[in-house]
Amino acid sequence: WVLMVTAQTPTNIAVIKYWGKRDENLILAINDSISLTLDPTHLCTTTTVAVSPAFNQDRMWLNGKEISLSGGRYQNCLREIRARASDVEDKNRGIKIAKKDWENLHVHIASYNNFPTAAGLASSAAGFACLVYSLAKLMNVQEDNGKLSAIARQGSGSACRSLYGGFVKWVMGKEENGSDSIAVPLVDEKHWDELVIIISVVCSRQKETSSTSGMRETVETSALIEHRAKEVVPKRIIQMEEAIQKRDFATFTRLTCADSNQFHAVCLDTSPPIFYMNDTSHRIISCVEKWNRSEATPQVAYTFDAGPNAVLIARNRTSAALLLQRLLFYFPPNSETDLNSYVIGDKSI
Ligand code: DP6
Repeated sequence: WVLMVTAQTPTNIAVIKYWGKRDENLILAINDSISLTLDPTHLCTTTTVAVSPAFNQDRMWLNGKEISLSGGRYQNCLREIRARASDVEDKNRGIKIAKKDWENLHVHIASYNNFPTAAGLASSAAGFACLVYSLAKLMNVQEDNGKLSAIARQGSGSACRSLYGGFVKWVMGKEENGSDSIAVPLVDEKHWDELVIIISVVCSRQKETSSTSGMRETVETSALIEHRAKEVVPKRIIQMEEAIQKRDFATFTRLTCADSNQFHAVCLDTSPPIFYMNDTSHRIISCVEKWNRSEATPQVAYTFDAGPNAVLIARNRTSAALLLQRLLFYFPPNSETDLNSYVIGDKSI
């Protein structure tokens, strides 16, 4: 027999960024972060996990290709979930797995991303969140999403925030064992549903410096990172939470853009410097800044993760339509900087 579970998890985009770890193995951050989880129909990971007495080892396939599960991150997630497994019974098929049997049973995992992997579109976030969630369902783990987020965090830091919809905060926590480093939902996806997210794919190639090694180098060499983590982000987190509660788009935009720019500034302050954005990314920033300044209130916020692609958050559908027109004007199809823009749902987050 084979028992299977399939789950789907969207990715999330940080508006106050996580960059830098205080513990590399447990994946504990040096600052809190806030993100918004995208609509599940776009940029998501679908994972099927299966268990059978016929499987003689844990195996995983990512986008159809087998990958190794020997890395610490996968092993940490599998171990933490297995340790919390409970009895499972499928009466119709006469299948019974007792809690203690899980130690000797192996799983097969098949995971698909519907977007480019490692192109700065936070694929690891959706991937590990989905892996942990589907394994927890398969093994009948009786923990809330907060506990599961702390397990997903050990796969990839940003993954802990994908366990919830809407706006989510990852609290860095103080404990050495990471037990209080979890995601907490701030508001659900209905709270601010006029926002529209547009992803402008500047380049879908794999990034040169992974987030993991990039942030390690920043923590080791940047003089600015400490100021960011200790002085700037704590204040921004408070202001951002308030802006989200009040749906204050002007403050939201100011903080989101400033935080993205500061994150890229600490990357530049790293030795050797890390360049995630390119000329096209910079032109998108100029185009949005110019437009926002010409209006009574800002129309669009921009944010860039560890790659050149722009995540643009429009205040409503009208500004999203105007933004698309502007992007088409500045970056016409078939030009050198041909952009691919994806609108993420009408009611986005
Ligand atoms: C720029 O979560 O990919 O997207 O914890 O090493 O797996 P690891 O890093 P990862 O880093 C994400 C960095 C970011 C900002 C963010 O999502 O907060």
